[in-house]
Amino acid sequence: MTTMESLIGLVNRIQRACTMLGDYGGGDNAFSSLWEALPSVAVVGGQSSGKSSVLESIVGRDFLPRGSGIVTRRPLVLQLHKTEQGSQEYAEFLHLPKRRFSDFSLVRKEIQDETDRITGKTKQISAVPIHLSIYSPYVVNLTLIDLPGLTKVAIEGQPESIVQDIENMVRTYVEKPNCIILAISPANQDIATSDAIKLAREVDPSGERTFGVLTKLDLMDKGTNALDVLEGRSYRLQHPWVGIVNRSQADINKNVDMIVARRKEREYFATSPDYSHLASKMGSEYLAKLLSQHLESVIRARIPSITSLINKSIEELEKEMDHLGRPIALDAGAQLYTILELCRAFDRIFKEHLDGGRPGGDR
Ligand code: GDP
Ligand code: NA
Ligand code: MG
Repeated sequence: MTTMESLIGLVNRIQRACTMLGDYGGGDNAFSSLWEALPSVAVVGGQSSGKSSVLESIVGRDFLPRGSGIVTRRPLVLQLHKTEQGSQEYAEFLHLPKRRFSDFSLVRKEIQDETDRITGKTKQISAVPIHLSIYSPYVVNLTLIDLPGLTKVAIEGQPESIVQDIENMVRTYVEKPNCIILAISPANQDIATSDAIKLAREVDPSGERTFGVLTKLDLMDKGTNALDVLEGRSYRLQHPWVGIVNRSQADINKNVDMIVARRKEREYFATSPDYSHLASKMGSEYLAKLLSQHLESVIRARIPSITSLINKSIEELEKEMDHLGRPIALDAGAQLYTILELCRAFDRIFKEHLDGGRPGGDR
C-alpha cells in the first residue's frame, strides 16, 4: 500500500470507530470535525435512475437491493476498507458487529431485512442510516452513500409528505461541503427534467463536487443519442460527464454477474457507432477510476487540516482516557482507546513520510 492509502485507510477506520461510539462521535467535538474533514460520495437522482446499480459497479460486488419502484428506503453508509493483497473479503454491519459476511448475497438480504425492521414491509422511508463496511484488497478506501430516489408524487401506502421528506433527507447528505455528488440521470429522459442535476446545482452551484452520470444509454430511442449531454453541450459541469450501461431488469432476473456486466458495458461502448470515439472515457470502471483520482487529490489537499484535527483528537482522547475512572461504558472506553491508537498511527506514518517527501509521493 502507498502511504496515501495507509493514511486514508486509517482515517476510514477512525471514522468507523467514531460511528461505533454513537453519541460520543455525534456531538460537536474533534471527532465530528474529523468525520466531516474526509470526503464521501453520495448518489442523487430520481427513483430507478440506476443509483444503486452505479454504486455496486464502483464497488465491483453484487450486494445492493436494486429494481424498479422504491427499493432503497433507508440511507446506506458504505465504508470501503482496502486490505492487504491476498486477504479474505468480507462485509460487516454496524448493527451486527460480531458477524462477518463473506457471502455478498446475504449482505443484500440483511440490508433488506434491516430496512424492513425500521419501516416494516411498506413503501415508507426512514432517515436512520444503515452502516456497512466492506473489507477487501480490491476496493479503494472510500465512503459511499446510497440514498432513496427523489420522487414527484406519493404512491399508495406512502404519506403525502414523502416527496419532501426524501428531498430533505437527500439534501442533508449532499449539502455538506465534503460530499462528492454523483448526480445520476437516465439517458432515456430529457436532461432538462433531471432531479439529480436540479438538486446538485442548488447545493453545489460551481459544480466542483458534482459528477454527472448518464445511465441507461442502451434504453434510448433508436435514432437518438446522448452526445450533447456527454460532450457537455447540454449542461456543462466542471467534471466530464460519464455514460454508463448497467444491468437491465432482465439481467438482474437472470443473475448476470458483475464481471459479465462490465464486459458487456465495455463492448457496448467499444462497438457503438455513436460513442466509440469516447469509449475510453465511458463506463463504470472509468467512473470508479475518475472518482478515486478526484478523492485522492481532495484528500491530499486536506492532509494538513486532517493532521491538525487528529492531533487535537489525540489531546482530547488522552484527557478522556485519564478520566476513565468516571462511569463510562466499558465499550466506549475500548472504542476511545482504539481511536486514540488509530490517531497515533496516522500521526506516526504522516511524520515518517514527511522526511521522505509529501505523503503519497512514493507512487
Ligand atoms: P435506483 O432506484 O436509482 O437505485 O435504481 P436501481 O439501480 O435500483 O435500478 C432501477 C432499475 O433500472 C433496475 O431494474 C435496473 O436493472 C434498471 N437499470 C439501471 N441502470 C440501467 C441501465 O443502464 N440500463 C438498463 N437497461 N437498465 C438499467
Ligand atoms: Na428503484
Ligand atoms: Mg436504489
